[in-house]
Amino acid sequence: MPIVVVVGGQWGDEGKGRIVDLLARKARVVARYSAGNNAGHTIINEKGEFKLHLVPAGIFYPEKTCLIGNGVAIDPEVLLQEIDQLEARGIDTSKLVVSDRAQAIMPWHKALDALEEQARGASAIGTTGKGVGPCFADKVARRGIRIGDLLRREDLAERVNQTLEYQNRVITRVYDGEPIRFEECMDRYVDFGRRLKPYIGDVQSVILQAERRGEHVLLEGAQGSLLDLDHGTYPYVTSSVPSSSSSGAGLGVGVGPTDISRVVGVFKSYCTRVGNGPFPTELFDEMATTLRDHGKEDGRGEYGTTTGRPRRIGWLDAVAARYSVRFNGLSAVALTRLDVLDELPSIKICTAYQLDGKTIDTMPARESMLNRVRPVYEELPGWQTPTKHVRNFDDLPPQAQTFIRRVEELIGCPVDLISVGPEREQAIIVNPIF
Ligand code: GDP
Ligand code: IMO
Ligand code: MG
Repeated sequence: MPIVVVVGGQWGDEGKGRIVDLLARKARVVARYSAGNNAGHTIINEKGEFKLHLVPAGIFYPEKTCLIGNGVAIDPEVLLQEIDQLEARGIDTSKLVVSDRAQAIMPWHKALDALEEQARGASAIGTTGKGVGPCFADKVARRGIRIGDLLRREDLAERVNQTLEYQNRVITRVYDGEPIRFEECMDRYVDFGRRLKPYIGDVQSVILQAERRGEHVLLEGAQGSLLDLDHGTYPYVTSSVPSSSSSGAGLGVGVGPTDISRVVGVFKSYCTRVGNGPFPTELFDEMATTLRDHGKEDGRGEYGTTTGRPRRIGWLDAVAARYSVRFNGLSAVALTRLDVLDELPSIKICTAYQLDGKTIDTMPARESMLNRVRPVYEELPGWQTPTKHVRNFDDLPPQAQTFIRRVEELIGCPVDLISVGPEREQAIIVNPIF
C-alpha cells in the first residue's frame, strides 16, 4: 500500500515541511495527521518562502489534494488566515479538505494554555501558547468541540453550553482569570464555520479512494518524536502523538497500520529543541551560537518558526535517534541541514550516555535520570568544504560521506535522503522514497 509517513525524529523543526515539499512531487494526496498550529513548517520553492502551521506542505502543487486529518487540533482563525495568505500569494487552496472530526481550538484553550504555564512557574513546559495542549486534554476528557460542530449554530451552542460553564469555573476559580463570554464566542465561531464550510469533508474516504487507485499518499507529521506524549521526554512533551506508531499517523487520518508502507524519519545533522525539558547533548558554548546563527543574516537561523524563540542547540544524539528509529519503525532517514556543518573542523556524535558512573546506550524514561546523563562523544573530522551544490552522494567530501555512514551505523537506519540547503532542489536522493 503506497502510504508513506514523514515524521520528525528529534524534538521538532527537523525540516519536515521541506522534505514533504520535495516528496510531494510523487504523491497524489498529502495529509497532516497530528498536532495543531503549534507546528511551523518552512518551505522554500519556486513559489517563494512560506511558513505553514496547519496546511500540508503539498499545497504548492495545484493538482494534489491536501488534507487536514481528524488527529489535528485546528484554530479556525489561524487556518482561515493561512488560507487567505496562501491565496493572496497565488496558491490555490481549493483542493484542501479539512476533517469534520478534527478538534477546534476554542478561546478557553488559549486562555488555559497561558494560565497553566504561568502556574507551573519554574517547571513551565515552554509551550507555544497556541491552546493546543488544553484542546487535546478536552478531546480526551470528551469535552472537545469538533470542526463539524461549527457548521450549525444549534449544534455549536449545545456543545459550547456543555463545556464553557466548566471551563469558566476553572479559569476564574483555579486561576483567577477572566471568563469567556458565550455570545461573543458563538458569533465568531459560527462565522468561522460558515467560512470553512467549503473545505470541510470526509478525509478518510479521500485517502481510501486514492489508495484504491494505487496513488501515493504522504502523511506529514508535526513536531518530533521526542515530544511524543508516550515516548517523549515526559512531561516536557506536546499533548498529541507526533510519532508514527499506529496510534499516531494512522489514527490521525483514519487508516490502519497495515496501510502504511514506509516511514521516513527526518533528523537534523545535529539537534535542536525549543521549550524546556531534558536535552542531553545541549551546548552552551560558542559552538551553539555558530550553529544557531548559521544563515541568520537571511532570516534562516535556528529561531522558532511559530514563536521566534531561539532554539537550544546540541550535537547529534545517536542514543535518542536510535530510540526514535525503533519506536517509529523507521524505514529510512532524511538527514537535513548537513550544509550547516560545512565549516566545522570537527563534528561530535553522542554514542552513549554516562549515568551515575555507568555507560548506558538507551534513553531513560525518567526526567530526573535524563537530567543527570552525560553524553559520551565520538569526534569525526569535518570537511570544511561547501556542500550546497552537491546532488550525488559520491560527490560529497569523503569526511561528509564518513559522517553519514557512521550516523546510519549508530542509529540503525539507512539515510536515503540528504538535504544540503533549505530549497526544494538542494537535496541528494540516495534511494528514492517512492
Ligand atoms: P519543520 O517544522 O520540521 O518543518 O522545520 P522548520 O521549518 O521549523 O525548521 C527547519 C528550518 O531549516 C527551516 O528554516 C528550513 O528552511 C531549514 N532547512 C531545512 N532543510 C535544510 C537544509 O538542508 N539546510 C539548511 N541550511 N536549512 C534547511
Ligand atoms: P514543528 O512541527 C518544535 C514544543 C514546544 C514545547 C512543547 C509543548 O514545527 O516541528 P505545545 O505548544 O505543543 O503544548 O508545547 O512542544 N513544540 C515544538 N517544538 N517544533 C514544533 O513543531 C513544536 N510543537 C510544539 O516548544 O516545548
Ligand atoms: Mg517547525
